Amino acid sequence: MCGIIGCIGRGDETLDTLVHGLEKLEYRGYDSAGIALLDEELSTCKTSGKIADLREKLDGRDLSGEVGIGHTRWSTHGPPTDENAHPHADCTGDIAVVHNGIIENYQPVRDELVADGHRFTSDTDTEVVPHLIESKLSAGLSPDEAFRETVDRLEGSYAIAALIEDADGLFVARNDSPLVVGLGAGASPDADGGAFFIASDVPAFRDFTGDVIYLEDGEFARLDGRLTVTDSQGSQVTKDVHTVEWDAEETGKSGYDHFMLKEIHEQPRALRQCLRGRVEEQTASVDIGDLADLAPTGVQFVACGTSYHAAMYGAQLFRDAGVPAQAFLASEYATSPPPVGNSLVVGISQSGETADTLSALREAESRGARTLTLTNTVGSTMDRECDHTLYIRSGPEIGVAASKTFAGQLTALNLFSMATAERNSTRRDVVPELRKLPGNVQKILDSSSAEAVADYYEDAESYFFIGRGYQYPVALEGALKLKEISYEHAEGFAAGELKHGPLALVDENTPVFAMAVGDDEKARKTLGNIKEVEARDAPVVAVTDGRNDAERYADHVLEIPETHPRAAAVLGNVQLQLVSYHIADQLGRSIDKPRNLAKSVTVE
Ligand code: F6R
Repeated sequence: MCGIIGCIGRGDETLDTLVHGLEKLEYRGYDSAGIALLDEELSTCKTSGKIADLREKLDGRDLSGEVGIGHTRWSTHGPPTDENAHPHADCTGDIAVVHNGIIENYQPVRDELVADGHRFTSDTDTEVVPHLIESKLSAGLSPDEAFRETVDRLEGSYAIAALIEDADGLFVARNDSPLVVGLGAGASPDADGGAFFIASDVPAFRDFTGDVIYLEDGEFARLDGRLTVTDSQGSQVTKDVHTVEWDAEETGKSGYDHFMLKEIHEQPRALRQCLRGRVEEQTASVDIGDLADLAPTGVQFVACGTSYHAAMYGAQLFRDAGVPAQAFLASEYATSPPPVGNSLVVGISQSGETADTLSALREAESRGARTLTLTNTVGSTMDRECDHTLYIRSGPEIGVAASKTFAGQLTALNLFSMATAERNSTRRDVVPELRKLPGNVQKILDSSSAEAVADYYEDAESYFFIGRGYQYPVALEGALKLKEISYEHAEGFAAGELKHGPLALVDENTPVFAMAVGDDEKARKTLGNIKEVEARDAPVVAVTDGRNDAERYADHVLEIPETHPRAAAVLGNVQLQLVSYHIADQLGRSIDKPRNLAKSVTVE
């Protein structure tokens, strides 16, 4: 949470570059925002509210400078007020700091600084940083030394950028929070001149450059007409330059009302990208490179939210292949860590930065486990820290609610289980259905009646989602998506569990979305569960491939093409995404930036 940006070498476009970058980072937090520019002096403008509010506040103000920093906030310490918005300053107003993360030892540091006469004006943990720099400068340290010693004093997670009057350029450091450097026009890692950017994520400056350097934990950078990266000991580090593959257009809305709707519609392309070069239909073979050699004898998945639902699905794939596998909520994993044995520990994370998942992976690694991350984000912390990575290749996802990345996770999990654990006979059944996935998703997008269903039920009191087998995580995901973007009450259940309690809540005001696919034993049992809710007057919306009797008992039907149950999970989820989207839209909710949520949750 929180997004930070900085730039130098953009001339009189510095302010616009920063605000533009903040707009691209707004998915990381959007309860307050601010910027600071350094010319002869520092000037700062910040406010509670969104970037649009910052823009309004900036209107008519004459802020200039060749170097600047910006921040969009998702509150952790103190409410979203003007005072708590970043950048934060020291007593003299000569230092400005933006920060993403949590400084765990801020209270004792703050107490010490207050005892030394420093006056604090916010509730944030961040404010100790400019005050610490100030105290070190007053003790006679150079700006470089003052910044480095300040950072050395901090415990916790941080990506920090600081401006110091009387010192050229921008000072940055990171630990456990993402930070990437962009090399703009005329810039290179080992020459003077050109434009440089720093940001929590690449979309912040993708319009200007695709050449990036990923900073590691413990590294510092100074940008002052050239880039100098040093390690925690102060030794200069040579960094590789990476080029991001996707272009800036992919981070725009392309005519859709919301990023989420655009991203739902991008699923055919995202799935094609995920599958490209990895499946061969004729031979039913799967190629994920060296990862196929992993052949795990046990798998522990760790993940949060939507990614946890993908983890549940993944665990089922491996169990069905005869490999012991479990899905753990990452935030609970370290509380009572399971024996790791020879298990491969797999962290599923769209962002690759989720703090709970990172901690679980680190816990597993400290117990000797091999780790793999399944992520969408090249260069993310998980990508760099885990022993292995399988990319889902969904392209950038800006809407806070995960949509295309969930489809990518389920698809990549199929590739992973088929390449490492499953038999030829299973591959022959599944590979052709995976190949058909992009086209089948497109069929749903072209013909779905989800909007009409959403219209019909938008006033309901509560929404229930049920599913069995591979459809169970999809039922949970359907409910999460709906509550997340519509703020309506929704719950997902294993279809068989309703009768063990939640059935007491079911009445004519609680539509039940039932995942009813196939014609096997599971489908027959789910049909029984549908009849149970129908008998209690609950309206039923069946998400079905028509191979069972669900339509007979349903008030509404959302059709999906006939396919393998594993692929049906991806297809059924598309219908549920559309229902959630349209209910939220009809209720006028903030779909791309739901209240209280952030895209990348980098605190535990
Ligand atoms: C829901 C959603 C969240 C994330 C969760 C984990 O739509 O987006 O539940 O799935 O915060 O995020 P990642 O996948 O980045 O680790």
